Amino acid sequence: MEKIIIGKEGGVILRELMDSDLEQLATYANNEKVSINLRDGFPKPYTIENAKSFKKMIDSQNPKTFFAIEYKNHYVGNISLSQGSDVYRKSAEIGYFVGEPFWNKGIATKAVNRITEWGFNHLDIVRIYTGVFEFNQASQRVLLKCGFIQEAVFKKSICKNNKIFNEIRFAKIKA
Ligand SMILES: CC(C)(COP(=O)(O)OP(=O)(O)OC[C@H]1O[C@@H](n2cnc3c(N)ncnc32)[C@H](O)[C@@H]1OP(=O)(O)O)[C@@H](O)C(=O)NCCC(=O)NCCS
Repeated sequence: MEKIIIGKEGGVILRELMDSDLEQLATYANNEKVSINLRDGFPKPYTIENAKSFKKMIDSQNPKTFFAIEYKNHYVGNISLSQGSDVYRKSAEIGYFVGEPFWNKGIATKAVNRITEWGFNHLDIVRIYTGVFEFNQASQRVLLKCGFIQEAVFKKSICKNNKIFNEIRFAKIKA
């Protein structure tokens, strides 16, 4: 299949998710250190069937805003923009994960920079935002490195594994 590449930086490519990625997706996603940082809608355990359903969902998207992250020719994770509706239609929520074997190599930072640039240029949006659980220092660092601003702390808004946490909200505005 032809790769639709939306960004390339330092060995990091954002492209369409392919069938050949699904086994790795299920392996990297089936990790408590990943799922602890994500909403409960992220399957746990994460099976190959979950990976197939996810691909089916994103294949039906138009425009496509969910991408695979490739690093040095290996599939390593996913990144997405989810555009809002109604009065929130000019905003998009960013989401991402990188497989644990590839952490701390600057991959998420490059991927967030690329999808942000692509989103502002190709989607009719003026704002990209997300909420990070308070204990997720790595993701907060990524967003700050990518020029996102901490806008607010939503106190005690998260219930994860039956414990209550703050959510730190970040956003980047189109220049
Ligand atoms: C968050 C995540 C995407 C980061 O991916 P990554 O490719 O390792 O990120 P990068 O290498 O670009 O940057 C990580 C930064 O966090 C820092 N970091 C990592 N762990 C840290 C910790 N425990 N405390 C403080 N900083 C930390 C790294 O040092 C690096 O910063 P630096 O470049 O200033 O040294 C990855 O850890 C992940 O997928 N986590 C699980 C899913 C998730 O959290 N998704 C985001 C939900 S909001």
